[in-house]
Amino acid sequence: MSEIRNVAVIGAGTMGHGIAYAACLAGYPVALTDADVGTLARGESRIRAAFDKAVERGKCTPTERETGLNRLSCLSTPAEAVIEADLVIEAIPEQLELKQRLFASIEGAVTPETIFASNTSSLSISAIACVLTHRGRLLGLHFFNPVPVMRLVEIVRGAETADAVVGAAQRFAVSLGKTPIVVKDSPGFASSRLGVVLGLEAMRMFEQGVASAEDIDRAMELGYNHPVGPLKLTDIVGLDVRLAIADHLHATMGGDTYRAPELLRRMVADGKLGKKSGQGFYRWEND
Ligand SMILES: NC(=O)c1ccc[n+]([C@@H]2O[C@H](COP(=O)([O-])OP(=O)(O)OC[C@H]3O[C@@H](n4cnc5c(N)ncnc54)[C@H](O)[C@@H]3O)[C@@H](O)[C@H]2O)c1
Repeated sequence: MSEIRNVAVIGAGTMGHGIAYAACLAGYPVALTDADVGTLARGESRIRAAFDKAVERGKCTPTERETGLNRLSCLSTPAEAVIEADLVIEAIPEQLELKQRLFASIEGAVTPETIFASNTSSLSISAIACVLTHRGRLLGLHFFNPVPVMRLVEIVRGAETADAVVGAAQRFAVSLGKTPIVVKDSPGFASSRLGVVLGLEAMRMFEQGVASAEDIDRAMELGYNHPVGPLKLTDIVGLDVRLAIADHLHATMGGDTYRAPELLRRMVADGKLGKKSGQGFYRWEND
């Protein structure tokens, strides 16, 4: 398997713009696209702002910022974005059919060696791959939010993922300064399966009036040394994203552990999606 030189990122929202920024910073030419032109433009300006912040913090020089930004191209369709790519990473919503449709639609536009990666938090990698002719090319490359800060990348090996694809993905993650772990394709992998339990239980406690959102979060931040409490983390992740993951885990694992609290469903229906909408368990001032 030849090494990854060019990257395409599909979806420029919370995760996609962060992944594109991390790849540009690490030296990869990146083609970024989104179905929504406004989100694509916002993604580009967020990447610009991330480079500015990196300069302010002494993480890169103004020249490196310019070089990094020049590596980014924003394109209007996935078909255009993937033409040169050795690695295509999707960061579109957590819906199986959407991800299947996307990968099926671009397979004809790339070489058989091009690696396909899904940033899914919970969906089956084998189920996403089943629509492909070359199923061995697809794996999970699960980044965490915010991408520039979080050090973990969870690599998910589907039933047919080729060893060489896993190896190339591990080297790619390391080149971005991340630490990869390799996980079997099972619902929620290692991270979401554990993390979502805490988030849902914190919501149930808030719903039952056990304590305020701030105090529930402080319990984990100060008592267990978690850098961010479970309700604030849900706001950062996005309540809609968390709900989609919980519903998928509930459907695949059964039992009550992953049953979404009514409060979560109601907040999503009311457009309270957390940081990205300005209101979740907390109020957020967005840039
Ligand atoms: N938010 C998190 O903290 C987080 C963390 C890890 C993984 N994930 C996973 O990453 C994925 C994306 O999540 P997000 O929070 O970035 O979502 P988001 O809603 O912020 O962004 C998704 C973007 O995809 C675009 N899109 C939808 N369909 C498209 C298509 N067919 N082609 C191109 N663009 C399309 C939308 O316009 C939107 O801008 C999900 O699978 C999610 O589970 C999210």
